[in-house]
Amino acid sequence: MARILITSALPYINGIKHLGNLVGSQLPADLYARYMRERGHEVMFICATDEHGTPAELAAAKTGEEVDAYCARMHDEQAKLADGFRLSFDHYGRSSSPQNHKLTQHFAGQLRKNGFLDEVSEKQVYSVADGRFLPDRYIEGTCPNCGFEDARGDQCDNCTKQLDPTDLIDAHSTISGSTDLEVRETKHLHLRQSLLKDKIDAWISSKTDWPILTTSIAKKWLHDGDGLQDRGITRDLNWGVPVKDGENDWDGMDGKVFYVWFDAPVEYIAATAEWAEANGKSEADWERWWRTDKGADDVKYVQFMGKDNVPFHTLSFPATLFGSQEPWKVVDYIKSFNYLNYDGGQFSTSRGRGVFMDQALEILPADYWRWWLLSHAPENSDAEFTWENFQGSINKDLADVLGNFVSRVTKFCRSKFGEEVPAGGTYSDVENKLIADLAAKVAVYEGHMEAMEIRKAANELRSIWVMGNEYLQTAAPWAAFKTDPDAAAASVRLSLNLIRLYGVLSRPFIPDASAAILSDMGDADAAWPTDVAAAMGTFEAGHAFTVPAVTFAKISDDDREAWAEKFAGVRT
Ligand code: 2FM
Ligand code: ZN
Repeated sequence: MARILITSALPYINGIKHLGNLVGSQLPADLYARYMRERGHEVMFICATDEHGTPAELAAAKTGEEVDAYCARMHDEQAKLADGFRLSFDHYGRSSSPQNHKLTQHFAGQLRKNGFLDEVSEKQVYSVADGRFLPDRYIEGTCPNCGFEDARGDQCDNCTKQLDPTDLIDAHSTISGSTDLEVRETKHLHLRQSLLKDKIDAWISSKTDWPILTTSIAKKWLHDGDGLQDRGITRDLNWGVPVKDGENDWDGMDGKVFYVWFDAPVEYIAATAEWAEANGKSEADWERWWRTDKGADDVKYVQFMGKDNVPFHTLSFPATLFGSQEPWKVVDYIKSFNYLNYDGGQFSTSRGRGVFMDQALEILPADYWRWWLLSHAPENSDAEFTWENFQGSINKDLADVLGNFVSRVTKFCRSKFGEEVPAGGTYSDVENKLIADLAAKVAVYEGHMEAMEIRKAANELRSIWVMGNEYLQTAAPWAAFKTDPDAAAASVRLSLNLIRLYGVLSRPFIPDASAAILSDMGDADAAWPTDVAAAMGTFEAGHAFTVPAVTFAKISDDDREAWAEKFAGVRT
């Protein structure tokens, strides 16, 4: 049994996330966490809301709430939706927690002590009309790298380049729209990433099994232009973790907070400390996941994120951990994702374009979305959601293939033998070959799940489902029943065991439907089939079940058209 620490990129607090966000981190992380638990490993699956920085302040200003009240409300809303999608976090924390304040200040103190922080007098954009500095998202303009017109002060969403507000062309304040901006001097802390460049470079180079998407982005930042640059890690904002050196004040840093991207990844650790507190555990209980001197040396740590988050997780956060010169656990594997697009354009939170998590659950159960999103995960390239594709996949994979098999077998059994596994007959070559083929395919499926090859795993699972229908076509128990009822009984017995197998194998992808199927089949706690042949003999003659209610309803053309129209515009 291994110990596996899994973190999903922390969703920003500013509003409900869309399906593109979901499939880019939390959902695949959940799939992996569920699978690893199925296989008996000890899993710690952590996520949290990312609550600091300009996005939170701006969003609260819009609703007219105090920023802390806004964050508390939105955290609860996001937690409820995460639950609705059955995201099985061990803890869903908040980056504004006292634990995160303390740890973030601790890391800053360590970095200072070890010579990895510079106090720099910096040129910042000051808005005369607003009477304040304009960090990050308080300023927008044209990206100097790619010409994208809505680039933010901290990053261009189009080309992912990390920016400084002073880099933007034709900049304006996002508070007032004012272009009356000037550059003023103010003191800030810089993380001296350049000093850690060689260490990080060697570390990334050693990760030969990481997805190309992850390493190529990291390498680009390490080697393009002048290489890895020092980064400002403080801001002139009210909301955030106050700049302190551990528990001590920091001269000249009054009224400043740490940059959101400095404290957010620290929250992975802090959220585990929150988990300990919430569950009556000790400090040692969370430290054994994070401190290699306290048991974390045998932990496998996997992070999930969209490609725009990769620079922070391959460079800045490791720089913080390495620079602390303390024995913190660093990530072992980073699974990153391209973007999911929506119907010919981008999903966009700021423009309200696409389907958002709350809206999705209002129209269909979580499993439908989970299945489509995971089986179309944007792993090797960007992917696109269209209503036609969604309808086609759900109707075919879930309704025609899996749902239909479950329903045909159980209903046929009920009508001919009653609601219990029939006795009689023995397995012939056809059944024995099916079992051998299944064992081989389950091994392939497990390999893909282990490797986090999500689309490949979904394809394999789908093809395992297809085998059931193909078998039914060949064995045709409804015909056999007339001439050789024992043979029909054997086929049905095998098929009922196959339904049980499907219930277990499908659980990481579609947990609700799988649970309902297994419960109707009278084996709610069915364990993972480590021996497929043995698992196929679990239900013996006489085992009682009930015919599952409709497992998956088809999406009609009317529904598809209505939804396409409903979600064509922008969310207000
Ligand atoms: O891009 C985002 O949505 C960020 N909130 C991700 C933060 S990940 C982590 F480092 F906190
Ligand atoms: Zn750009």
